[in-house]
Amino acid sequence: MDLLSIDSLSDEQIAALLDAADQFAAGASASDRHEGRIVFNLFYENSTRTLMSFAAAAARLGATPLTLPVEQSSVKKGETLADTALTLNAMRPDALVLRHGANGSVAAVAELMDCPVLNAGDGTNEHPTQALLDALTLRQHFGRVEGLTVAICGDIRHSRVARSNRKLLERLGATVRLAGPPSLLPDELPGRGEIGAAIGGADAVMMLRVQRERLHGELGDGPGEYLARYGLTAERLARAAPHAVVLHPGPLNRGVEIADEVADHPRSLILRQVANGVAMRMAVLDLLLGA
Ligand code: NCD
Repeated sequence: MDLLSIDSLSDEQIAALLDAADQFAAGASASDRHEGRIVFNLFYENSTRTLMSFAAAAARLGATPLTLPVEQSSVKKGETLADTALTLNAMRPDALVLRHGANGSVAAVAELMDCPVLNAGDGTNEHPTQALLDALTLRQHFGRVEGLTVAICGDIRHSRVARSNRKLLERLGATVRLAGPPSLLPDELPGRGEIGAAIGGADAVMMLRVQRERLHGELGDGPGEYLARYGLTAERLARAAPHAVVLHPGPLNRGVEIADEVADHPRSLILRQVANGVAMRMAVLDLLLGA
């Protein structure tokens, strides 16, 4: 089994992953569960949270995570993604965690591999483990996901996090509102161009990073302008429900999509998301590595 998209998972598997991750988050030990197994990490795009939490998750399950430093690898000599995958496959890893800039690339690699492949982000397509850890974070805080209203705001166009979260949170019974600057709203997703209205009365506000590396200077706003028009400030957060929590997948552009006072707010769950990232990736690896 591979984890390529939220659609790869049945409702039963999603429920089981949330329960298992809850146990791991509470400190359940599994340090001998996958001894002798090897998990390869192959990241063509930068990562701090996703890469390290997959590595920590593998280690906490007793498996050995091995990370290819792509910048120093034969990728820099022009080796293709397919040849890189076949090369790694010949070493017989027990799982491959892959992040790549092209939509669909992880699914294509999965066809070449004999082991389970996990999508750690493919272009602007999907990032299923991020959505799973976000759902876990909301469920821990509110005791449920069903019935919550979640506003996902910012650079929706480039966000694999928004795409996976929309699918997962709606499947779990939440209402998802998407909002962002009109130029950052993709045609295929229904969104609003006004952040304040999307936030109004919401239980949770998930801010997204402005993905400058995918923007090619299109936004061109002066400093402070994005925050004023589309960012989450304390003033805007006050429009959400009084108990509303703040999420962000990281990395933060402080002072752009999120003000310091909100990022560091008592109702910010941003570091809880990071902690849950390890627990959820333990649950996912445990499922895919099997008995
Ligand atoms: C996100 C990603 O890479 O898709 N980060 C993450 O995995 N936590 C979001 C982003 O880069 O803005």
